[in-house]
Amino acid sequence: MTPVAQTPSTPRPAKPRLLTGLAVKDGFIRHPFDLEFGVRTSGLIAGRHLKCGHSNDRHITAYYGIAPSVFKSILVRWRRCRPVAHIDEFTFVDLGAGMGRALLLASEYPFRSVIGVELHPTLARIARRNLKLWRSTGRPQAPMRLICADAAAFVPPPGPCLAFLFNPFGAPVLRRILALWARNFAGRPGQLDLLYVNNEQEHVLEQHPGFTRLFQGQVRRSHADVVADHRILTSQPAAEYAATPWEDCSIYRWTRA
Ligand SMILES: C[S@@+](CC[C@H](N)C(=O)[O-])C[C@H]1O[C@@H](n2cnc3c(N)ncnc32)[C@H](O)[C@@H]1O
Repeated sequence: MTPVAQTPSTPRPAKPRLLTGLAVKDGFIRHPFDLEFGVRTSGLIAGRHLKCGHSNDRHITAYYGIAPSVFKSILVRWRRCRPVAHIDEFTFVDLGAGMGRALLLASEYPFRSVIGVELHPTLARIARRNLKLWRSTGRPQAPMRLICADAAAFVPPPGPCLAFLFNPFGAPVLRRILALWARNFAGRPGQLDLLYVNNEQEHVLEQHPGFTRLFQGQVRRSHADVVADHRILTSQPAAEYAATPWEDCSIYRWTRA
């Protein structure tokens, strides 16, 4: 018997390391939204684990997907605020889109278009995959896209805009965004509305003379979302974040004539 020549085995390419917060050892649990739709938007990643070499990465709060029930409730509240145009004229812009959960939810409304801006390249890549999967389900009513960029440098598209923020960054980035958007919407009162969920930097908007607050209050999670978020947040080894049955939210309108 001739021995079979052993070909040197080619080393398997190393699996890319998961971001801290996305591994089972970090307490990772999939949210029911992902289990239902086969997408990947779960996980809690602290801001310190989202450094990507950009000067604004020190202002990142964390990655966490919005509770679907909160998203739907704040949109109901926004529609009661008498937007300046029909929803199909508005572009929805998620500033700090993460893995895209809010984008997927927004695309179920007939917006003119749905745009996400995400700074971290890995999250942006996951979000793009989610958008592709979502399109294949036929659920979206609006075209969607994800831009991997700093939200502070994103120039809003023409026409009415609905900006969405789920506590993505600290005050310095929010201030820069408001300055840029104020220039873009100068002389166009009512054309920009802003939904702010978990509104930690509310004071920045309060101090801006061009924005008028239309709503401020607690938006409750559904029972299913309370249970899901409680399970996820209490499984975190560092127990850094607490789950509440609501989110502090506000809605602003650009009113400067
Ligand atoms: C709390 S998560 C919100 C995710 C998503 N909007 C949602 O509701 O499901 C905040 C996200 O904002 C991103 N972010 C923070 N600073 C940013 C910046 N300057 N530009 C773009 N994205 C940023 C973070 O990387 C993180 O993914």
